[in-house]
Amino acid sequence: MKILVTGATGLLGSALCPLLRDAGHDVRAMVRQSSSTDLMDVANIEIATGNVLEPESLAAAARGVDAVVHAAAAAMGRDEEAIRRVNVDGTYALLDAVRKHDPGIRFIFISSITAGGFGTSQHPLREDMIPRPATTYGRTKLEAEEIVREHASRMACTVLRLPVLFGPRDRFFPPLYRLIAFGITLLPEGGSMEMCLLHAEDAASAVLRLLETHDPGADTFYVADDRPVPWKRFCGVVQAALGRSVSMPVSVNRNVMRRAEALLDRLRSLPDRIERRIPPDACPDVPRLLLGRGLVCDASLFRERTGWTPRLDLTQGVKRTIAWYRDHDMI
Ligand SMILES: NC(=O)c1ccc[n+]([C@@H]2O[C@H](COP(=O)([O-])OP(=O)(O)OC[C@H]3O[C@@H](n4cnc5c(N)ncnc54)[C@H](OP(=O)(O)O)[C@@H]3O)[C@@H](O)[C@H]2O)c1
Repeated sequence: MKILVTGATGLLGSALCPLLRDAGHDVRAMVRQSSSTDLMDVANIEIATGNVLEPESLAAAARGVDAVVHAAAAAMGRDEEAIRRVNVDGTYALLDAVRKHDPGIRFIFISSITAGGFGTSQHPLREDMIPRPATTYGRTKLEAEEIVREHASRMACTVLRLPVLFGPRDRFFPPLYRLIAFGITLLPEGGSMEMCLLHAEDAASAVLRLLETHDPGADTFYVADDRPVPWKRFCGVVQAALGRSVSMPVSVNRNVMRRAEALLDRLRSLPDRIERRIPPDACPDVPRLLLGRGLVCDASLFRERTGWTPRLDLTQGVKRTIAWYRDHDMI
């Protein structure tokens, strides 16, 4: 199969492209003009330049492929509009470019557990629940999902709602790893918030398994390991993998998190001149997510329909991740 992967330089894309190639597929990795492919394994992978914000750049990238895995997204950004442009308008532009070529194309949209909202071990998110996204990012991913489903009569579309990912090239967790390496473990509200976590290699293998499943029989799936992990335990596993015997737990309570959230919101309402100083990577949703009830889903439907199971347990996944960051002098 010839497969176009967007977001190829990201956490998921950079694990997915070599996995698809090694499974015998022809891979075309879409990268932006500004993207760095330095940390990517690009052997026998075709590179196509494209930006979902520049619709005219997408036609060539989409030409002649049998399947598209749309993993490009913005989780962070200065404001909601910047995130929406990439996640919603960008998905529309890509679908538009793809459908002009071959209506028989398979389109896999990589969405997020946050499109469904919050879930706990007692009440995990399931595909048949009404989605209640609580963050900007989650809302834009849900909007994009709806656009994808509108195209389902013209191409075979599937939405994968992935849980919290970690692994090499991640842009979210490294500050936490560095803080723990420094000797401080931040525990929002005591660290009891539970999450479904998945190493990027396992998320990539879920995508491959879906591509190899002729008809998965549903248009939306949660994908996850079946063992949610409290934040505090995740930090403990990271601490052990870093080889730190002591790390001081610092509990950040709801009021402090709310203030951080309000401060980020206020900074965003300042005049442009000042607002532009906010780093583009500032993520307005982080306090909201960490204060939420949990990011837990039930992924049994995906496992039943595809036979997929994750390969790495949390400790193995974290050890590999830390080793990669050390090899690249990033912690
Ligand atoms: N990370 C998670 O915890 C998580 C959890 C659930 C779902 N997901 C979903 O999984 C997918 C992959 O996430 P990730 O964590 O791998 O992402 P990531 O590491 O943040 O990388 C984002 C990718 O999208 C590309 N991109 C951003 N804006 C673009 C644009 N305008 N045009 C084309 N490409 C653009 C980036 O290219 P550059 O290299 O040029 O910046 C990068 O390759 C996303 O759809 C995300 O919503 C992620």
